[in-house]
Amino acid sequence: MPTATAIAHPNIAVCKYWGKRDRTLNLPAVPSLSLTVAPFHSRTTLEWGSDAEEYWLNSQLADASTHKKIKRVLDLMDPWRPKCRVVSENNFPTAAGLASSSSGMAALVVAAHAASGQQRTTEELSAFARQGSGSACRSLFGGWSEWPLGSRMDGGDSHGVPIAPPEHWDLRMVVAMVAAGPKETSSTDGMTHCADTSPYYTAWVACAPADVEQGRTAILRRDLYSLGRIMERSTLRMHACMMGSDPPLCYWQAGTMAAIHMVEDLRRHGLSCYYTIDAGPNVKVLCSVSDVEVVRNHLLKVAERVEVLSPGPGARVV
Ligand code: DP6
Repeated sequence: MPTATAIAHPNIAVCKYWGKRDRTLNLPAVPSLSLTVAPFHSRTTLEWGSDAEEYWLNSQLADASTHKKIKRVLDLMDPWRPKCRVVSENNFPTAAGLASSSSGMAALVVAAHAASGQQRTTEELSAFARQGSGSACRSLFGGWSEWPLGSRMDGGDSHGVPIAPPEHWDLRMVVAMVAAGPKETSSTDGMTHCADTSPYYTAWVACAPADVEQGRTAILRRDLYSLGRIMERSTLRMHACMMGSDPPLCYWQAGTMAAIHMVEDLRRHGLSCYYTIDAGPNVKVLCSVSDVEVVRNHLLKVAERVEVLSPGPGARVV
């Protein structure tokens, strides 16, 4: 039976996707911008036409919600498909706010595409990945990518768009893991809860497009100071929206705040480093290559584990 293996790297948003304008098609309420990062990756092998329909994630059968997302994407790629066996491994913590769903879904569509012998464009694959997990549509591309708001009702124009390749700007993303366990509230549930109950949600949606416009310009100009400020603004506005929901949603832990203070302190000492936080307690710090060792050593004082990531390539068959 045809089998293919794909690798995809997670992407970390510098301007966040948080909120859906269509929950069925998984269309975003805001545009977003991200950096695909290596060496964190998902490695996925897919048998197209296996004896059983089975999805394995990190040596265990996928939980109900992940199973549903994988099945949905495979059914969309080919409604008349045969049974598939999917075996996927992450070389970094899963569902801990480290974007494992972005790399997982991107690797899935690339493996399914190769194993099934389909002939689709990367944009089409990105749109399929989006239906499994929104942020995954950006991991089809290496380096910097954007997920524009799009305007088509059917979501046909809702896919990742490459902005600049990995070699455009040699920066580092230092991950301070303050807790590695899985999060209690998924991003999907968190953003639905915000849209339904947070009085700040409308303001969040209204502010996001300007952040993406300015963020894209800062990336193209390799302006770390501006990008860092925009990234922190987008991060804090997204988390303010979560904290304003009812009951409140807060992904932060004590170590999250300690890492934020550490980054602010390093800046006071002249380093150019900026933080971002997703739907989990871990903190990612964007900095120049020359500052990475100092940033890493200081974050080790507040984090259980620190990893240094670099701009990485897009999803691919191996
Ligand atoms: C905070 O892509 O995981 O990481 O589309 O519901 O699967 P679903 O959500 P998901 O959300 C990611 C949210 C974020 C910000 C971002 O990556 O842009």
